[in-house]
Amino acid sequence: MTTRTPAAALPAIADGPLLVAGIGASFGVSVDELRSLLEVALAGVGLTPAAIDAFATVEAKANEEALLVLAREYDVPLLLHPAAKLSRVAVPHPSDRVAEAVGTASVAEAAALLGSPDWKGRLAEQSAELLVDKTASPRATVAIARHWLADLRHHGDAELGPDLLDLAVNVAPDPLPDWLAGVLRDACANMRNYPDARSATAAVARRHGRTEDEVLLTAGAAEAFTLIAQGVSRGKAVIVHPQFTEPEVALRAAGWQVERVVLQAKGWFQLDPATVADDATLVVIGNPTNPTGVLHPRETLRQLRRPGRVLLVDEAFMDLVPDEPQSLADDPDLDGIVVVRSLTKTWGLAGLRIGYLLGDPSVITAAAAVQPHWSVSTPALAAAAGCMSVEGVREGHRRAVALTEQRGWLSIALAERGFEVAPDPAGPFVLTRHPKRQRLHAELRSAGIAVRRADTFPGLGPGWVRISVRDDAAMRQLLTALDAASSDGASSDGASSDGGDPE
Ligand SMILES: Cc1ncc(COP(=O)(O)O)c(C=O)c1O
Repeated sequence: MTTRTPAAALPAIADGPLLVAGIGASFGVSVDELRSLLEVALAGVGLTPAAIDAFATVEAKANEEALLVLAREYDVPLLLHPAAKLSRVAVPHPSDRVAEAVGTASVAEAAALLGSPDWKGRLAEQSAELLVDKTASPRATVAIARHWLADLRHHGDAELGPDLLDLAVNVAPDPLPDWLAGVLRDACANMRNYPDARSATAAVARRHGRTEDEVLLTAGAAEAFTLIAQGVSRGKAVIVHPQFTEPEVALRAAGWQVERVVLQAKGWFQLDPATVADDATLVVIGNPTNPTGVLHPRETLRQLRRPGRVLLVDEAFMDLVPDEPQSLADDPDLDGIVVVRSLTKTWGLAGLRIGYLLGDPSVITAAAAVQPHWSVSTPALAAAAGCMSVEGVREGHRRAVALTEQRGWLSIALAERGFEVAPDPAGPFVLTRHPKRQRLHAELRSAGIAVRRADTFPGLGPGWVRISVRDDAAMRQLLTALDAASSDGASSDGASSDGGDPE
């Protein structure tokens, strides 16, 4: 991947964000009631009806007179969604009464978030978040969502530049431990032979208490996603977002039908397994999740299993969770489950390309069948075996504990400054935003600090950034820059400067 020239600010998203008003209407609602409800909702975030690009509602309301009249008046399309599809959208304010009556827990919020499959042909990259939560009048409800393009191939390394402190890439900056450097040196002395994965496979199997047919070494976790996308029979994939975007890229490239379940910031991106479509034949979820830091309980993940379905759990950051209490890697029953692991992050080995798949032998065999021969190099295999040793596991644990402490104080320091942070995060990063600092990413870049813009993750709007957890000196540099920018007033740009989020 190429390193791009650092930009001072976020590149503009093509056409800017689009606003969709989701509407739940009782039969016979009047045009006046609907118009004034919409105007009040829009005024609350400093907008007028001219900002709205589309209305959306449930199919059953296709002929509701007030909706049709108002859509004509505002000159916007009325997008119609089947109730079954709306019922699978996670909404921040579900109502049992509404769910009973129309089969979805909030028509307004779900319809606003869903957009439309053929809307400007942009479903593949479309992302959305609620700008205005459900607002009600006696016979109608309205919610407004902002939709924007998410660049699925943007990663932290594209944020780096000369003279910028790197708080964007989640790869440990520590030097290699002596024993690991020695393993790599020895492996490089034997480059004449083709790689042989047998002893690394045995070492990974031993480390996780698995049999060797449950293990496949891969050229990083990234290759594992491609192998699953190409090796497993095509069907419908559901990806739980916001999460690392390469699985979606790999699945789309391999011809899968991809649906997203987008978790909401309210309650900090918790998963309700019922929002995953029953007919999904592959479900992809990160644990802990990049970039939200959510560590899903393994019992919740196990509820996602179905006969004939593959559950892919991306545990690329799990070795940075002390004792890995929610990992499925050593679970006795991995029927229908595959776990992806990476050695990139903890060991600072992004350039080596080494990771592995663990799990259901039938899925491992399918992935292995499409893997190029000798895909994982001799040094990469040697590093994998080394990191599985007693010494490697002990050092990994030490790093995980140190990282957890460091992230703890950074989270507290950010919260004290009014930033939103995860209540109980995991992983070597902190996802955050500030209600009054929508230009945080640009602010920090001008102060010489690269953080990862997070609006390219489906489900996260402009304003969110992901900050890598580093040593004390780097974290103090970050906090000093944040304090300086807030005291000179440069950052107090309010919630509406870019159509920002009032929540
Ligand atoms: C959640 C997650 N999974 C997988 C990967 C890819 O890891 P690897 O370097 O092993 O391909 C990344 C890289 O950023 C990631 O963040």
